[in-house]
Formats: sequence, structure tokens, C-alpha cells
Amino acid sequence: MTNRKFRLLAMLILCLAAAGLLASACAKPQIQEKIVEKPVAQIPPPDVAPNGCADCHKKEGDKDYTLAAEAKKANPNHVPVPATATVNDCIKCHGGAGKSGAKPFNTFLHKAHLTSQTFGPKLKGYCNSCHVMNADTGYMTIKGVTAK
Ligand code: HEC
Ligand code: HEC
Ligand code: HEC
Repeated sequence: MTNRKFRLLAMLILCLAAAGLLASACAKPQIQEKIVEKPVAQIPPPDVAPNGCADCHKKEGDKDYTLAAEAKKANPNHVPVPATATVNDCIKCHGGAGKSGAKPFNTFLHKAHLTSQTFGPKLKGYCNSCHVMNADTGYMTIKGVTAK
């Protein structure tokens, strides 16, 4: 191949690559890819945790599943929280966009539960394990959360 032909070919490849990049940049955001397919059963199951978090996050025999213990398990350097802490306490730091340097629950709590082999498949947990709808206002809230 002559030098000139080679350069033309190289230019063509570059143009195609640039066009490809442009097309992918203009395409719809790829956020869909990250959504977990079929995280839980699609037919709303009965509410297995009428009292919310505490129905599952408690001591069971020699196992400590309290919320305080979960915090400590996930982060051994977690700020001290009382053993009796409820989600109302957690949300003071982990609620909304996150306060006091804490990640918002929104960024990890759903994932931890809705991809868990225990929460859904075994305990039959669902949105309604944690959330409740106020039938008058239509607002969805977290069971037991009054603080923001
Ligand atoms: C139906 C039972 C159930 C309910 C209700 C429930 N959880 Fe859990 N939770 C689990 C199970 C099971 C796991 C362990 C998931 C795994 O690792 O498979 C877990 C894990 C966690 C963890 C550890 C997550 C991590 O990243 O390490 C936290 C924190 C937690 N739950 C907080 C909560 C809060 C707050 C609520 C209420 C808003 C709640 N849970 C309601 C069953 C439940
Ligand atoms: C005084 C503020 C504060 C309170 C109250 C609090 N946390 Fe945290 N939590 C933090 C900070 C700061 C971190 C470290 C940064 C991070 O990972 O969010 C943390 C980390 C965590 C993590 C690890 C997150 C991860 O993905 O690495 C979990 C799980 C957790 N907290 C659960 C809880 C639970 C459950 C409660 C209620 C019992 C609670 N926290 C109460 C401030 C708080
Ligand atoms: C383990 C408990 C738990 C389960 C299960 C759960 N949620 Fe949540 N959800 C929460 C918590 C805690 C928050 C954060 C509340 C806050 O930041 O004040 C939240 C927040 C939300 C929000 C508000 C998001 C925002 O940015 O304001 C929506 C919407 C939501 N959940 C929908 C769902 C749906 C749909 C399901 C079932 C597929 C579900 N949740 C299952 C605990 C749970």
C-alpha cells in the first residue's frame, strides 16, 4: 500500500470511530443496565414485617441481627449507636441525601435487601416489609420513621 493510500485509510477509520463515539454519546443514557431484573416476586405478597425493620433485625438465639449490629458488621469503625437503635435513629444520618458523612440509605439499602437470597426468597420480604402507604394522602413512608 502506498503511503498516501495508507493515510486515506487511516483517516477513514478515524472518521468512522469519531462518528461511532458521537452516536453513542447521543444515545439514551445507559442507566437501564444497572436495574436489577426481577428483584422480587411481582405479585405483592403478604406483609411479613408489619413492624418494619425490627421484625427481622433483632436478636435470634446467639445471632445478633439488630440494626446496631448490622451497622457494626458493615463498618467495624461505625460511630457508636445504642443497641436499641431504630431506623428512626439511623435515618438521622443515612436519610435523604445523607448527613454527617453517611451514605444515604437510598444508595445501598435497597440493593442489600432486594438482591439478597435471604430477604426475598427465604423471608418473603418485599417493599411492604419496610414501606407503608398512607391511604388518605397516598404518601409512601418507611415504617417507624418520623425523623428526617
Ligand atoms: C423481612 C426481613 C427484613 C426487614 C423487614 C428488613 N431487613 Fe434489613 N436485612 C434483612 C436481611 C436478610 C439482611 C441480610 C441481607 C444479605 O446479606 O443477604 C439485611 C441486611 C440489612 C443491613 C446490612 C446491609 C449492608 O449493606 O451490609 C442493614 C443496614 C439493614 N438490613 C437495615 C434494615 C433497615 C433499616 C430496615 C427497615 C427500614 C430493614 N433492614 C428491614 C432482612 C430484613
Ligand atoms: C451519627 C451518624 C450515624 C448514625 C446515627 C448511623 N450511622 Fe451508619 N454510618 C455513618 C457513617 C459516617 C458511616 C461511614 C460512611 C458510610 O459508609 O456511609 C456509616 C456507615 C454505615 C454502613 C456501611 C455502609 C457501606 O455501604 O459501607 C451501614 C450498613 C450503616 N452505617 C448502617 C447504619 C444503621 C443500620 C444505623 C442505625 C442503627 C446507622 N448506620 C446509624 C453514620 C451514622
Ligand atoms: C429494607 C427496607 C426497604 C425495602 C425492602 C424497600 N425500601 Fe424503599 N426505602 C427504604 C429506605 C430506608 C428509604 C430511604 C428513606 C429516606 O432516605 O428517608 C427508601 C426510599 C425509597 C424511595 C424514595 C426514593 C427517594 O429518592 O426519595 C422509593 C421510591 C422506594 N424506597 C421504593 C421502594 C420499592 C418500590 C421497593 C420494593 C421494590 C422498596 N422501596 C423496598 C427502605 C426499603
